[in-house]
Amino acid sequence: MSFRLQPTPPARPNRCQLFGPGSNTKLFPKMAASDADVINLDLEDSVSPSDKDSARANVIEAINTIDWNTKTLSVRINSLDTPYWYRDVVDVLEQAGDRLDQIMIPKVGNAADIYAVDALVTAIETAKGRTKRINFEVIIESAAGLVNVNEIAASSPRMVAMSLGAADFAASMGMQTTGIGGTQDNYYMLHGDTRYYSDPWHLAQTAIVAACRTHGILPVDGPFGDFSDDEGYRAQSRRSATLGMVGKWAIHPKQIGLANEVFTPSAEAVSEAREILAAMEQATANGEGATVYKGRLVDIASIKQAEVIVRQSELIAG
Ligand code: COA
Ligand code: MG
Repeated sequence: MSFRLQPTPPARPNRCQLFGPGSNTKLFPKMAASDADVINLDLEDSVSPSDKDSARANVIEAINTIDWNTKTLSVRINSLDTPYWYRDVVDVLEQAGDRLDQIMIPKVGNAADIYAVDALVTAIETAKGRTKRINFEVIIESAAGLVNVNEIAASSPRMVAMSLGAADFAASMGMQTTGIGGTQDNYYMLHGDTRYYSDPWHLAQTAIVAACRTHGILPVDGPFGDFSDDEGYRAQSRRSATLGMVGKWAIHPKQIGLANEVFTPSAEAVSEAREILAAMEQATANGEGATVYKGRLVDIASIKQAEVIVRQSELIAG
């Protein structure tokens, strides 16, 4: 660890972020009643240009009238290259009450994008006397977003989370795929006649996790388009969890239980983590920095790894 300590991310469950188009009001009560930790009411790409104004009004009414219980409530605004985004921010922040927790800024390319939104949000909060600070989450889904991921993570004290948006990211990178996340048929190594599939999202995910962990914000895996493929979703989620991400988006209710299953540490994982902590406590009492647990080395670094799992499970439990 350098002299500057790694900040802790917000203490809240973020295993699943459920999306629904702002134009589809009949989904809102179902979203509120779901098991997702975070709700993202969408004004961006699931809403057609002709519906942008009515979707904005729907979302404001939904924030003000529906019981969202203890969920984190977020609105995805349009990206800064569109004529819609400023009206999204102005109308939502002027007309929606304090129940709103955060806005999601898509297609972020650099810290100046966040600076622009921050300036507008700050002016509205001050003018309207909003007392609860609106937080930001962003989507990394372009070549520029990946190149500038660290400055984006550091861009504002409002930043709480960052997601990888696989579809727009693939398009921006010129990747030859139309799949939204998951294994790609043409991304393999050949050994003899056997194909070994590799993970084309790995670099972007790892860069996001590193930027988020450096600045104390939550790294999240984005959408998985094929909502009929439970095993594909599960495999993608397990890879993301292994890399340090805390949750994943759901674009269909089928995916909520899968995300909660993968991103809630299992009872076995938690009890093993507690046993490692106990083994290390014993080792420390004996004046040792390392010991053996189930035939393998555990040392001071293992304490931190085990604490991540225990902390996650305590956070989700309560
Ligand atoms: N949130 C809550 N409930 C949802 C839902 C969502 N995102 N998507 C579907 N449902 C409900 C349906 O209303 C239906 O409910 P019912 O059983 O009471 O009739 C049930 O889940 C089954 O839905 P299904 O018929 O399988 O799907 P659909 O054809 O109605 O909708 C989509 C499919 C993909 C259009 C829809 O899931 C959707 O709009 N997802 C979100 C897209 C989005 O927000 N994208 C932006 C982020 S990438
Ligand atoms: Mg996108």
